[in-house]
Amino acid sequence: MAPPPSSSASTERETMTTRRSVLVTGGAGFIGSHTVLQLLREGCHVSIIDNLDNSVPEALDRVRALAGPALAQNLRFFLGDLRSKEDLEKVFSSKRYDAVIHFAGLKAVGESVARPFLYYDNNLVGTINLYEFMAKNGCKKMVFSSSATVYGQPDKIPCVEDFELKAMNPYGRTKLFLEEIARDIQKADPEWRIILLRYFNPVGAHESGQIGEDPKGIPNNLMPYIQQVAVGRLPELNVYGKDYPTKDGSAIRDYIHVMDLADGHIAALRKLFATEDIGCAAYNLGTGCGTSVLEMVAAFEKASGKKIPVKLCPRRPGDATAVYASTEKAQKELGWRAKYGIEEMCRDQWNWASKNPYGYRSQP
Ligand code: NAD
Ligand code: UFG
Repeated sequence: MAPPPSSSASTERETMTTRRSVLVTGGAGFIGSHTVLQLLREGCHVSIIDNLDNSVPEALDRVRALAGPALAQNLRFFLGDLRSKEDLEKVFSSKRYDAVIHFAGLKAVGESVARPFLYYDNNLVGTINLYEFMAKNGCKKMVFSSSATVYGQPDKIPCVEDFELKAMNPYGRTKLFLEEIARDIQKADPEWRIILLRYFNPVGAHESGQIGEDPKGIPNNLMPYIQQVAVGRLPELNVYGKDYPTKDGSAIRDYIHVMDLADGHIAALRKLFATEDIGCAAYNLGTGCGTSVLEMVAAFEKASGKKIPVKLCPRRPGDATAVYASTEKAQKELGWRAKYGIEEMCRDQWNWASKNPYGYRSQP
C-alpha cells in the first residue's frame, strides 16, 4: 500500500549508515520496544535508558529474541531516570551517540490532572536534563515523541502541522511546552536538528504477538480496554459519548499501527541524518483516516471472534469529537506513510492479547 519512496527519500535512505549509535529513552515501553526492534533490524547500535516505571525488562528480553542473537548484541540497557544527572552521566560517559529518540515520559491524562507536579517534574525536568547532556556531549540530533494532544479540540480536521497549538490538561501542556523548548533550543544553536513526531492513536502490536502494550491497572485508552474485555479481565466497555455529531454518535480518532509508528521513527532518523537545515520540524504520524469508537469495537469483534459488551455512557470530559491527521507532510518530506488499516491493527492487537492475556506477566 505504501508508495515507492520519492527520489529524495531514497537518497536520504542511502546516507543513513547501518552503524549509527542511537540512544532511546523509554525504550522498554510500548512504542519504544517496537521502535528498538526496528532500529536493531536497521543495523543501529541501540542504548536504552528507562526507569521501568511503566515497563518491564521482559519486554526487552522479547525484543532481543525477536531480533536474533547477532542483532541483540547491539542492544544495551541502562536502568536509570532522566531526572537523575548521575544516571545520565553514566549513559553519556560510556558511549558517543549520533542521535537520541526520546520516548520517556508519563502519559496518562487523568493522572496528570490529579498530579501535575509529577508530570511537570518527570516530563519537563527529565527532558531538559537530557538536552543538557546531549549538548555537553556533542549529540545534537533529537527525535521527540509529541502527540496529537497539542491540537487540543481542533476547529478543523484533518489536523495540519501548522495549526495553532493548544493544550487541554497538564499532560498536554508538557508536550506543548516541550515542543516550544525544542524550538527555542534549536533557534539558539542552529547545529541542533530536531524532529517532533505528533502521534495520533497508537494501537496494535508486533505481528509475532510477542511484544505489545501492557498498561498497569485499569487501562485509560480504548484498545487496551477492549483487549481486556475480550480476554475476560473486564466485564464490559464503557463507550464515552453516544451523542457526538458523527455517523454513529461516538467519537472519531485516527488509530495507527504501532509498527507503522516505529517505521516512522526510522524515517525521521534518516531525515535528521540527511538534512543539515532541518531546524526543528514537526510531523504528524497518523493514517489520515477517522474511525469511530463503535467502528473500532466492531472491527475488534470481527478480528477476535469475541463479543465486546458495551455500555453507552456520557462523554468523557475534555474529549474532542473528531481528530485525525493530515499525512501529506510526512509523506512528502519523510517518504513515510502508514501501511496498515484497522483490520490489521485489531488482528495484531488480538494476537498479542490472546497469547498474553496478562501482558508480560504469566498470571494475575
Ligand atoms: P510507555 O509508558 O509505554 O513508555 C514510556 C517509557 O518511559 C516507560 O518504559 C517508562 O518506564 C519510561 N519512563 C518514563 N519516565 C521516565 C524517566 N523519567 N526516566 C526514564 N524512563 C522513564 O508509553 P508509550 O505509549 O510507549 O509512549 C511513549 C511516548 O509517546 C511518551 O512520551 C508518550 O507521551 C508519547 N505518546 C504516546 C501516545 C500513546 O497513546 N501511547 C500518544 C501520543 C504520544
Ligand atoms: N474511549 C471509550 N472508552 C474507554 C476508553 C476510551 O469510549 O474505555 C473513547 C474515548 O472517549 C475517545 C476514544 O475512545 O473518544 C479514544 O480514547 P483514548 O483514551 O484511547 O485516546 P485519546 O484520543 O483520548 O488520547 C490518546 C492518548 C493521548 C494522546 C492522544 C493523541 O491517550 O495521550 O491519544 O495522540 F495525546
